[in-house]
Amino acid sequence: MRKIFVSPSILTADFARLEQECKALEKSGADWIHCDVMDGNFVPNLTFGMPVVKSIRKCVVLPLDVHLMIDRPERYVAQFAEAGANLITIHAEATDDVAGCLKLIRSCGKQAGISLKPNTPVEVLEQYRGLFDMILIMSVEPGFGGQSFIEGSVKKIKKAKELFPDVLIEVDGGINKHTAKKVIAAGVDVIVAGSAILNAADKKAAIAEIRG
Ligand code: DX5
Ligand code: ZN
Repeated sequence: MRKIFVSPSILTADFARLEQECKALEKSGADWIHCDVMDGNFVPNLTFGMPVVKSIRKCVVLPLDVHLMIDRPERYVAQFAEAGANLITIHAEATDDVAGCLKLIRSCGKQAGISLKPNTPVEVLEQYRGLFDMILIMSVEPGFGGQSFIEGSVKKIKKAKELFPDVLIEVDGGINKHTAKKVIAAGVDVIVAGSAILNAADKKAAIAEIRG
């Protein structure tokens, strides 16, 4: 059986206790830590930037999975790489130079991810084939934690796996133990979950349940 990676999103963490929260996730069996960076333009919400990623880097040894929900991410890629991101994911809808931005991520020695909002078809990625290590399928409209899973994402994950069998497929939004089963069956490799893990009394059990 293939390995399923679980990447808890700290979006729903108590930011005043970020060190304890990240360490608790690490102890509870998380594979990566998912960092949601929002700019109030690409999405109607604001979170945090490079200094917070740099601080998280000091607290855990787990790979940092940085999801940039920002316009023209090429402006900040080098700084997120410097801050300690291991994998940097940009949105296909966020820049006029997706290929250049993916190349920039790799030139910083990091893995490159490309993310799609729910209404963007997987086929748009054909033109960037070979330039990314992971596809992130958004299963909610990006911007907020705690939303309901969009069922059409299951079909999209299958399509992504079929078209790009050699890259990791990640899913993000509305994942709990029930929706996790569906996306795993569809071929996903990496599962992001925020509220289902961070709001659980027993994080270890929540991660184990999602992993299936
Ligand atoms: C949404 C973020 C997600 C979010 C997931 O824009 O990219 O990572 O935190 O939260 P849940 O798991 O609560 O849907
Ligand atoms: Zn995310």
